[in-house]
Amino acid sequence: MGKTMTEMTSQQDAALTAISSAATLEALDEQRVAALGKKGWVSLALKTLGGMSPDERAEAAPAIQAVRAKVADAIAAKKDELEAAELEAQLASETVDLTLPAPDTASGSVHPVSQVMDELAEIFADLGFAVATGPEIEDDWHNFTALNMDESHPARAMHDTFYFPDTAPNEGRMLLRTHTSPVQIRSMKEQGAPIRIIAPGRVYRSDSDATHTPMFHQVEGLVVDRGIHLGHLKWTLETFFKAFFEREDITLRLRPSYFPFTEPSVEVDVGYSNEGDRRVVGGHGDAEGHDWMELGGSGMVNRRVLEMAGVGPDEYQGFAFGLGIDRIAMLKYGMNDLRAFFDGDPRWLAHYGFSPFDQPTLSAGVGAKA
Ligand code: PHE
Repeated sequence: MGKTMTEMTSQQDAALTAISSAATLEALDEQRVAALGKKGWVSLALKTLGGMSPDERAEAAPAIQAVRAKVADAIAAKKDELEAAELEAQLASETVDLTLPAPDTASGSVHPVSQVMDELAEIFADLGFAVATGPEIEDDWHNFTALNMDESHPARAMHDTFYFPDTAPNEGRMLLRTHTSPVQIRSMKEQGAPIRIIAPGRVYRSDSDATHTPMFHQVEGLVVDRGIHLGHLKWTLETFFKAFFEREDITLRLRPSYFPFTEPSVEVDVGYSNEGDRRVVGGHGDAEGHDWMELGGSGMVNRRVLEMAGVGPDEYQGFAFGLGIDRIAMLKYGMNDLRAFFDGDPRWLAHYGFSPFDQPTLSAGVGAKA
């Protein structure tokens, strides 16, 4: 019996050494099975108690139980230690660096044309203009006849019109509007005078090169009231361009011109300079590196147009203008190829587009920050 206990003590010491040096939970479990498993040496020793005399058992039982408890405690303690180490290692390897930039996600941007339309609306709203709209599929009467271009008028040919086939002849003929001026007629017929509107939108002409696309954008302006004269037109355009380009040194050139629906008519040019391949407004024209860009037409509303729109021309006078939105966008934001505006290339949009958060406001500035 004494020999058995000596044997057990050395088995216990060997087991405790093996337990404390177990490097992994698997190695530790092997030690548990070897000692405490069904066929483990501690379990076998406990089974020998059945064959002992009561006296022997009274002495051996507490000794074997003590060995069992020691080994079990050592295993439990080592298990806690190994599990804690494993958790440490896992936490260390699975850290997330919250200072890293967020991954790229595809995001859209606001097209420069949309951005500029918002800017226009903001500036003209402050000057008391409402935004009006009209159909892009227009009839001949609104697009031409009511604007003092009857069937035989040569200016019609200059508009390179897209006509719809198989529509009623003459004034009922349908077409893609060639300018935003028909909105003048629709607004006057609907609201009468006095009136103060802008009408931004798409227009269509069948020509195409580096500076002309079959679809482009215009903004129409119309003011009709008593005592309106050319000075009001000039002040309005100058005030608008200064606010739009956010600089005071804008040079506008108003050139005598001809439109059937205005009399007199003036063409509106703005001075710009070339800086590398960028165009920047604020040039003075004529001098080296400076030039003029034609931005649109304008003039005093022809009295025949007022009459056709149901406004009495003896009581009311008006001015109107039509500006190319794409052109003023190119000048403000430094693009030099109009065709890229309508290619729908996401790389161009990512470069020249604007954040939806860039809402133009007069207080924060109508220029985009991007
Ligand atoms: N509708 C003219 C064009 O497209 C521009 C214009 C508008 C001229 C209003 C005078 C007055 O060329």
